[in-house]
Amino acid sequence: MSKPTHFLDLDTIDAKELRRILDLAQAFKRGEGAAAPLAGKTLAMIFEKPSTRTRVSFEVAINQLGGHAVVLSQTELQIGRGETIGDTARVLSRYVDGVMMRTNLHEKLVDFANSGTIPVINGLTDRSHPCQLMADVMTYEEHRGPIKGAKVAWCGDGNNMAITWIQAAVKFGFELRLACPKELAPPRGDIDWARNHGAAIVELDDPYEAVRGADCVVTDTWVSMGDQASESRTRLLTPYRVDQTLMDRAPDAIFMHCLPAHRGEEVSADVLDGPQSVVWDEAENRLHAQKGILIHCMG
Ligand code: CP
Ligand code: NVA
Repeated sequence: MSKPTHFLDLDTIDAKELRRILDLAQAFKRGEGAAAPLAGKTLAMIFEKPSTRTRVSFEVAINQLGGHAVVLSQTELQIGRGETIGDTARVLSRYVDGVMMRTNLHEKLVDFANSGTIPVINGLTDRSHPCQLMADVMTYEEHRGPIKGAKVAWCGDGNNMAITWIQAAVKFGFELRLACPKELAPPRGDIDWARNHGAAIVELDDPYEAVRGADCVVTDTWVSMGDQASESRTRLLTPYRVDQTLMDRAPDAIFMHCLPAHRGEEVSADVLDGPQSVVWDEAENRLHAQKGILIHCMG
């Protein structure tokens, strides 16, 4: 039996394949493409953490592609009572054609993929969120043209989204400027990996320096799902808030945020709702990007 085509992390997927997924996503957005290419296919979606965008966009996407979704929370599955991930993967492989999983430990996702015989899609782990990045690149390119050679500034927590942006810098060939408190910087290993693979990753303490001349400014919540909010965390991250004073240093940049946003914390309301923000297009593009990912894995 041939190996299933997973979508686990950008670093393990060929850049040409990622570009093909984006081409598919754009075609779907234009209303092109075959009718019901996933007719009769079932996607199981396992959520061990909350979700608005990922849950709804995947379910709508598979429906619009002619298939359907079964949505499962951890508490509904026997995983919640101790059945192993591996056994769950082996059983679901006998019923459905693909799985999208949102979980905490990235290792659980990999365990699922290695144990089953069906494609597995990473719907976010503590380590990465590759589906979001596909929508982000798609959105950037809609507004600004090819992302290759662009300057993207990440301001804030060095979290799962930051790691995925680092991986994307390798695959899509843009410069990534990281402005993160050193205590919350992305893992050194990921930055080194990206540099060893030719990416221009610039580490800066000063967010004002990071956004100067940027084409895109990105941030994310200061407290990711599974993280503990604390005064010290807020104190460390406050200088990296994206507000209008910061955006004024990047007058040609678009502003992106994967959402959910916390107005007044990582981003001010005037930036999120302002003229440089493309966050609603970014959210919409989750739907189109999921279609490209679903076809890649299950088509
Ligand atoms: N951006 C994103 O993944 O949002 P949800 O947590 O609502 O799915
Ligand atoms: N970093 C955030 C992303 C949410 C889509 C989290 O993991 O909670």
